[in-house]
Amino acid sequence: MLYFDHSATTPIHPDVQSLINELNHDIYGNPSSIHVAGRKAKHVVETARKQIADAVNCAPKEIIFTGGGSEANNLVLWNMIHRDRKHVITSAIEHPAILAVLRQLEHLGITHTIIPVNKYGWVNPEDIDAAIRDDTGLITIMLANNEVGTVEPLQDIAKIAKKHDVLFHSDGIQVMGKLPIDVQELGMDMMSFSAHKFYGPKGVGALYIKEGISMKPLIIGGSQEKSLRAGTENVGGIAGLGCAAELVTKSLSDVGPSLTALEKQFKTKFSEQHANVIYNGFGDNHLAGLINITIPGIASDLLLIHLDSEDIAISSGSACSSGTISPSPVLKAMGISDKQNLETIRISAGRDNTSAEVDQLVETMTRAIATIRRNAR
Ligand SMILES: Cc1ncc(COP(=O)(O)O)c(C=O)c1O
Repeated sequence: MLYFDHSATTPIHPDVQSLINELNHDIYGNPSSIHVAGRKAKHVVETARKQIADAVNCAPKEIIFTGGGSEANNLVLWNMIHRDRKHVITSAIEHPAILAVLRQLEHLGITHTIIPVNKYGWVNPEDIDAAIRDDTGLITIMLANNEVGTVEPLQDIAKIAKKHDVLFHSDGIQVMGKLPIDVQELGMDMMSFSAHKFYGPKGVGALYIKEGISMKPLIIGGSQEKSLRAGTENVGGIAGLGCAAELVTKSLSDVGPSLTALEKQFKTKFSEQHANVIYNGFGDNHLAGLINITIPGIASDLLLIHLDSEDIAISSGSACSSGTISPSPVLKAMGISDKQNLETIRISAGRDNTSAEVDQLVETMTRAIATIRRNAR
């Protein structure tokens, strides 16, 4: 299989998998138990906390483990019901784990303003400044978009948030392992992460919460995770998250340039064959290896089916909206017409993809496109 859908999820790193297997077998204690078995499990959880904290430059006590990225985002947003200032500012290209939650929260009196983006999917910090009201309690803007890869100007937005004394959260889920993340340099109050996007296991995530920010749990029960996330910890999964965070951070300087090279190779070779294609998103400031292309006249679902029959995995829009043929709200927000929207695919390369695979992808796509054109006549 040629796997070019790393923005949907990544294959688990072999070292992460062996660690999880070993721990699930050997470390079976409950981290809350005071005996040796419990203490060993606790040590595993705390080691992982240090690994992810080091990866994003915060203190281990500022990390809370969750059951994935969606839960981390939900924890931030549902806390708005406890805050005095109940207005949230977000962008039009956030993941449903932000936008759908905000729609739900409207029923509980949490209002929100959606900031539009430009044609590259970029949020203008000045628009955020202008949208701040007396009752604004939170700004949440993703670090990089999952469909087009545009990196948002978080540092500038953080300054605005600070000026108005508003909390600032970011969905950083797509970025770990692709760009360095320094929550202090970015000026974040909170940031969400998800292990399965960086070669870790599915169903485990983390939320950075700057020391001093008061939070209440979403999942209530025992006092795990400083009473912010009840439930016996997923020890193996958490260890996998920590190990993956460390591995991808260490290999960042190799993987970044290699993804950029694969992306460049694809674009050069594909454009030679298909001059009229449109690459969506920022050319320079975007996630390396993420290619969002509109191929005029070629329905993305048909192309996906052709590629799937050749054992090649890519996606149209985001994985969450694949399976439906409705236009992507992200591309819509970028001003892309519904017709072009449905002619757009996302290719996302990962650490194991090779130059030979990119050649094979271009060749197979070119063949599939020719077949689709022939059949349409
Ligand atoms: C930007 C973004 N936010 C949130 C999520 C949800 O994360 P998880 O699958 O860990 O719940 C995803 C995954 O598709 C994502 O890409």
